[in-house]
Amino acid sequence: MYELLSAQELLLHRISNPKLIAPAPNDELIATICASAMAVPDHGALTPWHFTIVKGEASLKKLSDIFVSAIEAEQGDEIKISKAAKMPYRAPLIIVVSTQYKDHPKVPKQEQLVAAGCAAHAMQMSAYCLGYGAMWRTGDMAYSQTVKQQLGVSLDNDIVGFLYIGTPEKTIPPKQRKPAEEYITLL
Ligand SMILES: Cc1cc2nc3c(=O)[nH]c(=O)nc-3n(C[C@H](O)[C@H](O)[C@H](O)COP(=O)(O)O)c2cc1C
Repeated sequence: MYELLSAQELLLHRISNPKLIAPAPNDELIATICASAMAVPDHGALTPWHFTIVKGEASLKKLSDIFVSAIEAEQGDEIKISKAAKMPYRAPLIIVVSTQYKDHPKVPKQEQLVAAGCAAHAMQMSAYCLGYGAMWRTGDMAYSQTVKQQLGVSLDNDIVGFLYIGTPEKTIPPKQRKPAEEYITLL
């Protein structure tokens, strides 16, 4: 399961994988993945994030029910309901990353959102490093008040993403990334 990658290889070759199947990382590896998030840059050490672990059939069904109730609350049609119901089953493990903003005189909310985003990224990298695939998704469900309420995320916080994690169904070929030079200027 473990593939030894150098840190630089990981940074250059990380790739998202939308086709994820069982097995998911076990509890020990989930703890490692979450611990990776705790090492991200965090101004003021505010730990402005929260992780909700959705693993196994029963939990995935709960999330599916939450998504369905969100579409129903918006009077969505049957097609939307059936699509939303299936979403959580795209992986055997989902980590919902949300913010937990703190009041701080020097650390505005936007920095805390960035830190929570770094946490999501670190967890994706960690999963990749451990030989699993992962994909960071948002979509309407991340911005739904119903979803937030039912996941216990207060309305003044944000869902940063649903990190889908599992075993890659198939390997994704390496991607040709855009050259960094296009995004660099010298002062
Ligand atoms: C905040 C955020 C939200 C995203 N939401 C979605 C999403 O809902 N659906 C999707 O297909 N990709 C989404 N993506 C993009 C994928 O996670 C992924 O980066 C993209 O498919 C490109 O693949 P790559 O990571 O291998 O370059 C999101 C990325 C970020 C950073």
